[in-house]
Amino acid sequence: MTRSLDVSRDLYAHAKRFIAGGVSSDARRIVAGPSPSSTAGVPLYVDRAEGARLWDVDGNVYLDYVLGQGPALLGHCPPEVVEAVTAQVARGIVYSAQHAAEARVAERLCAMVPSAERVRFNTVGSEAAHAAWRLARGHTGRPKILKFEGHYHGWLDPVLYSVHPPVDAAGPADAPFAVPGTAGQPPAADLVIAPWNDLDALARLMERHRGEIAGVVAEPVLCNTGAIEPDPGYLRAVRELCDAHGSLLIFDEIITGFRLAPGGAQEYLGVTPDLSIFGKAMAGGMQVSALAGRAEVMDTISTGRVAHAGTFNSQPVGIAAAEATLRVLDERREEVYGTLYARGRALMEGLREAAAKAGVPMLVDGPGPVFQTYFTEAESVRDYRDFARTDRARMALLHAALLERGVNMVPRGLWFLSTAHTEADVAATVDAFGDALRTLPLG
Ligand SMILES: Cc1ncc(COP(=O)(O)O)c(C=O)c1O
Repeated sequence: MTRSLDVSRDLYAHAKRFIAGGVSSDARRIVAGPSPSSTAGVPLYVDRAEGARLWDVDGNVYLDYVLGQGPALLGHCPPEVVEAVTAQVARGIVYSAQHAAEARVAERLCAMVPSAERVRFNTVGSEAAHAAWRLARGHTGRPKILKFEGHYHGWLDPVLYSVHPPVDAAGPADAPFAVPGTAGQPPAADLVIAPWNDLDALARLMERHRGEIAGVVAEPVLCNTGAIEPDPGYLRAVRELCDAHGSLLIFDEIITGFRLAPGGAQEYLGVTPDLSIFGKAMAGGMQVSALAGRAEVMDTISTGRVAHAGTFNSQPVGIAAAEATLRVLDERREEVYGTLYARGRALMEGLREAAAKAGVPMLVDGPGPVFQTYFTEAESVRDYRDFARTDRARMALLHAALLERGVNMVPRGLWFLSTAHTEADVAATVDAFGDALRTLPLG
């Protein structure tokens, strides 16, 4: 089974002459070696996207579970968003000035998200994360941020630590080192790394840095290292620890926001942070992110004490997309979230059965609107060190085998659902998955 990729191959050869590595983000880089992320050694060249499907430039069609790395929660090109964006483009693409829609979007976001009393818009998630870390330090007057191993908060220097470090360089499991994610990063400054889902370790680390930690930052459901939910009661206890230490609790909801519930993971889990950041799913595919939080904390920005800026912040086309998207998510919440959970859980169950039928040990875990497939005999994956023990090279091979069969999952084994995925799409995906598993070399 081999796709025809002649046009893609030519485009890639051309791109490599002018674009470093031929791609515009490392997440799309083709890694040569024993576990290439594409059998063909060619990145996906998309011609168009609609609903739950992508068409590549060679005419191959894919059921898409990457969804632009999460944003296309309503599927590609939802008509409400296309209409709003098209209307706005004709009225102006960039103002770098105030306009009426931004406050309407902020008002709706505040109504939907439990912790949100005030909002500031940015363009992408990395920027919003940067804003949150600066605000936490500026507001509390403390120097340190505590982040969890395996959590990703964007690619900027201060935050790109200990995402997927080599375990032999990552230090003790209960007090990990801060391992840089790239060459060229300055040494870690004022960063404390904690293991996820280990309350005792967290309590010890917060005690060791008593009075110094401005903020504790977490993906409330960890989606950049598997799809790992917090243990029951864990985040509530983290909230209490933050209160006891006078540290702000910051949720990075760039993936979970508007995906797990209209109010994000904070609604889904019933734990309210002081600050949170949103991006991806909030604007139907346009690049809009937001920092939201308690008025008293956000006032440190209102007064100008903590700087926050950006030429493209609340760019009207993005805001039009956010307004249309949030209206659908808010006003049709039962239908939207009912579909996302029903499809996600049906697909999870189908993939489990397909793996069992193929005799392949596999864990399928996560909330449903996003979930992870792991090659492991373990019954659960609770933190980065567990994740690192799963067979990630084999997952890359599965990704390639699925692409050949017209299914596009995130190469590390993560699956995003949209409201555009149908029951028939789920059934076709399960068939392709079983078939792909049977082609893999024995593990
Ligand atoms: C949890 C989380 N935070 C932050 C980011 C950074 O967002 P962006 O890629 O839009 O800069 C991402 C991106 O995947 C993410 O998953």
